[in-house]
Amino acid sequence: MTLAGRNVRFRPANVMISVGRAGRRRGKGGEAARDRGNGRPALRWPAVAPAPGRRRAGRARQDQEATARLSAEALAAGDPTGWFERLYTEAERVDSTVPWDRESPHGLLVEWATARELSGAGRRALVVGCGYGRDAEYLGRLGFATTAFDISPTAVRVARERHPGSPVTYVTADLLDPPADWRRGFDLVLESMNVQALPPRVREAAFGAVGEPVAPGGTLLVIAAGREDEEDPPAAPPWPLTRGEIDAFGRSGLTPVRVEDLRDTGILRWRAEFHRPA
Ligand SMILES: C[S@@+](CC[C@H](N)C(=O)[O-])C[C@H]1O[C@@H](n2cnc3c(N)ncnc32)[C@H](O)[C@@H]1O
Repeated sequence: MTLAGRNVRFRPANVMISVGRAGRRRGKGGEAARDRGNGRPALRWPAVAPAPGRRRAGRARQDQEATARLSAEALAAGDPTGWFERLYTEAERVDSTVPWDRESPHGLLVEWATARELSGAGRRALVVGCGYGRDAEYLGRLGFATTAFDISPTAVRVARERHPGSPVTYVTADLLDPPADWRRGFDLVLESMNVQALPPRVREAAFGAVGEPVAPGGTLLVIAAGREDEEDPPAAPPWPLTRGEIDAFGRSGLTPVRVEDLRDTGILRWRAEFHRPA
């Protein structure tokens, strides 16, 4: 059937699969190529990097190697999230930026919010792994009392600097060890492209942790790169999520509302919505 201009196939249990416009708009490398936060070159993020010119290709390759090296070193040292701060500080040092840096909010978030005419007035939102704050600022503009956190103090500092006067509260915090008073504290929790950057060992804990802050009656929105069950994960991050891993975000007692499979030009992305019963 067609819904809002999309081809939509329904699955049992209220779970929807769609092949849609959103997927088509973001072909391989499209996001990164389109919208770099401050015009600075990005350290390359596999699978979302632009097709650069020859000189930039060399730079991108080096940056990709640096990303893979930093994450591998952190993993080997038993500190699987340690490389984020190193990447952010490195970006500052060499006057570049991180691969996921965008000025505008994620298109799949905007599309989701717009379709619902989402208003945050009188409601609280939490943005997981906020990076430089693009999605947090968007939710703040929609009227949510927004808290946004990242494990990287440098990312949080730069987010504050980039958005002076912002109503968003930026906090350095660890998803796996969050402030106790966040539990069940937010009407909307956004997880966009973070858990895919965590290795499997940490990821298992992250699935439940992401949902814990969702208040009764509240919503969790997950946006992630996807891979098929039979596909091996790449050697270096990001490690796209399988459908089973997307379902695991419900572990903290959340009910799946809709899981969308948005794919085109060989790229699979998930947008999944969960609800905590009131
Ligand atoms: C791939 S980036 C995505 C950033 C942002 N969500 C966006 O879409 O622009 C992943 C982010 O998650 C953050 N992060 C990784 N592990 C984290 C953790 N345990 N707690 C909080 N943030 C974390 C990283 O520092 C990084 O900013």
